[in-house]
Amino acid sequence: MKITIVGSGYVGLVTAACLAEMGNDIFCLDVDEKKISMLNQGQIPIYEPGLEEMITRSVQLGRLKFSTDIEASVAHGTVQFIAVGTPPDEDGSADLKYVLAAAKNIGQYMTEPKIVVDKSTVPVGTADKVKAELARVLALRGVSIDFSVVSNPEFLKEGAAIDDFMKPDRIVIGHESDSSGMQAKALMEKIYAPFNRNHNRILCMSVRSAELTKYAANAMLATRISFMNELANLADIVGADIEMVRQGIGSDSRIGYSFLYAGTGYGGSCFPKDVQALSITGKEHGQSMDILNAVEHVNNKQKMTLVNKVHHHYGADLSGKKFSIWGLAFKPNTDDMRAAPSRVIIRELLLAGAQIVAHDPVAGKEALHALNQDMADHPNLMKNVVLVSEPMDALVDSDGLIIVTEWKAYRSPNFDQIKNLLKSPVVFDGRNLYEPDGMNQLGFKYFGIGRKSS
Ligand SMILES: NC(=O)c1ccc[n+]([C@@H]2O[C@H](COP(=O)([O-])OP(=O)(O)OC[C@H]3O[C@@H](n4cnc5c(N)ncnc54)[C@H](O)[C@@H]3O)[C@@H](O)[C@H]2O)c1
Repeated sequence: MKITIVGSGYVGLVTAACLAEMGNDIFCLDVDEKKISMLNQGQIPIYEPGLEEMITRSVQLGRLKFSTDIEASVAHGTVQFIAVGTPPDEDGSADLKYVLAAAKNIGQYMTEPKIVVDKSTVPVGTADKVKAELARVLALRGVSIDFSVVSNPEFLKEGAAIDDFMKPDRIVIGHESDSSGMQAKALMEKIYAPFNRNHNRILCMSVRSAELTKYAANAMLATRISFMNELANLADIVGADIEMVRQGIGSDSRIGYSFLYAGTGYGGSCFPKDVQALSITGKEHGQSMDILNAVEHVNNKQKMTLVNKVHHHYGADLSGKKFSIWGLAFKPNTDDMRAAPSRVIIRELLLAGAQIVAHDPVAGKEALHALNQDMADHPNLMKNVVLVSEPMDALVDSDGLIIVTEWKAYRSPNFDQIKNLLKSPVVFDGRNLYEPDGMNQLGFKYFGIGRKSS
């Protein structure tokens, strides 16, 4: 099938690679010339395990191409997936300018019927806006061409995106019930048939239900995280161990173990903006989203938890102190620094006078870019940030190790080496990677999240 993917970011590239892998003929569009030129030189602009091999294979087989040519992209696919960004607007609502620009382009150049698929995460009612934009542009052109708008939200997780796309828990297809909506549904089922062989994963529903399902999923996951973070802070005070509490409640099959880890707060390109956007959708419809507002509030506070622990140990003024940071990306196996807790932590430590030596297996370049943005009001402090390429190199003469992202490389380190390299053997573990008692026995002062502190 000839398919166009509009937007070649995390979701667009993974969708393109997976659909091409199944034999489809994919045209990937982006407005970012630098990104397309990199892709055309065989370079992948993001880090996602397994993606490079898949893209290289399909490009060589002639099933996948990248371009900035909008007219050609519209001509290519009967199905046009919109996978552009939906960043937060100033008030926290989802900014639909990229989605609507993509719709406008399709309307501008389409000469035959199209199925337009909203794959971006978009608020309830966006498909109606996309439809209205297409109709407006077609009317301006004075032509009448059939089209249908489908909602097909994406549930992939960065770091495991290929696996998630190839073996999805569910494939949500929101379609209209008129005849063109039913035709669109049939075509979507055909596109997803190769990913649906083991058992039926397709859930067909109304467009609005599909749009809301995506936000509901992310909001539920974010809620679990904030719930556990709040409990962890209480555990710290009352002398309980959140790890035991996690296992104690996770063993209840009604609760389950997933997404119950206390930490430094959620970040990334989805949860923060989607929780905010859903809250705004509620507000726009006269419903206050009290739970979600609390989830966001708890999360913002949680990003300061490690910083507060550092101050509690070393005092308010951190001048002359050096801290090692392990992990910068918002989670392991990605280079995505969007809303990463490390950004808040590093900024606060720098403002308190500290020096930072940081390591991340892949996010270094993205991190420097993000930190330069964050410190634009204090650019001189960026000289106090050094990135190193080996975790142990970050520890030399440092006053403490702060673990922010739970990369596998940090899970079982040589603790003797860590102790020898650090000036003082202090570990602030934002991901509860180590056992407090074991760390104390090794001679460390160890501060986890919601665990017994030394
Ligand atoms: N990243 C994730 O893990 C994830 C998971 C599920 C859903 N989503 C949702 O998917 C959408 C895309 O997210 P992402 O992380 O891939 O974003 P991204 O920022 O990585 O990529 C978006 C791309 O769209 C391009 N673009 C913008 N306007 C365009 C236009 N008019 N025509 C062509 N290209 C255009 C941008 O240049 C960029 O390369 C968002 O709505 C996001 O919430 C993301």
